[in-house]
Amino acid sequence: MKIRPRNRRIGILLSGRGSNFEAIAANVASGKLRAEIAVVISNVESAPGLARAKERGLNAVCIPSKAKAREAFDAELVTALSASDVGLVVLAGFMRIFSPVMVRAFPNAILNIHPSLLPSFPGLHPQRQALTHGVKVSGVTVHLVTDDLDAGPIVVQRTVPVLDDDTEESLAARILAEEHRAYVEAVGSVLDGRWKVAGRRFVRL
Ligand code: GRF
Repeated sequence: MKIRPRNRRIGILLSGRGSNFEAIAANVASGKLRAEIAVVISNVESAPGLARAKERGLNAVCIPSKAKAREAFDAELVTALSASDVGLVVLAGFMRIFSPVMVRAFPNAILNIHPSLLPSFPGLHPQRQALTHGVKVSGVTVHLVTDDLDAGPIVVQRTVPVLDDDTEESLAARILAEEHRAYVEAVGSVLDGRWKVAGRRFVRL
């Protein structure tokens, strides 16, 4: 199946700090990433990433998720993303699991970033999981979002070493620096539309 977003308009979803959003926004602003940020949506009003998006003068809104059923919240997201004519949805520290409502509305057009080498350490606290398991290498995975959590086709992976004296924080910081590069590369690749998914593999057409 070909991976080809309808346009180069991206919608960024976040829940917190927003450093991945910032990395993407900076590369869009400098022209290194050929994309348009159509909308930034946070499900948390106090998310620093939402404030940063507003400071950049972007179309940035809060759609609260609290106490909403998954499908009802997702339907609100689909409405907002469609209203901004978004071709690719980019999850940047977005701490909600989608229902099929979102995944069906944007088939093969949602990217997520996860700070481990998937399929190792999906879910919460992947850096802690990596240290507990004792792996010597970890990293970041950018993948397409499917109905299965952290399990869609892998677009980009990058590795970092795990050092003997690492803490959860020091490992997370080393991975985060790679995240910022990996996400910009992955968004650019997907937008360029010269890819297909064959089985589980994201490969060149
Ligand atoms: C990142 O580590 C990302 O991989 C994970 O959540 C964190 C978000 O960080 N999904 P930020 O909000 O982009 O700074």
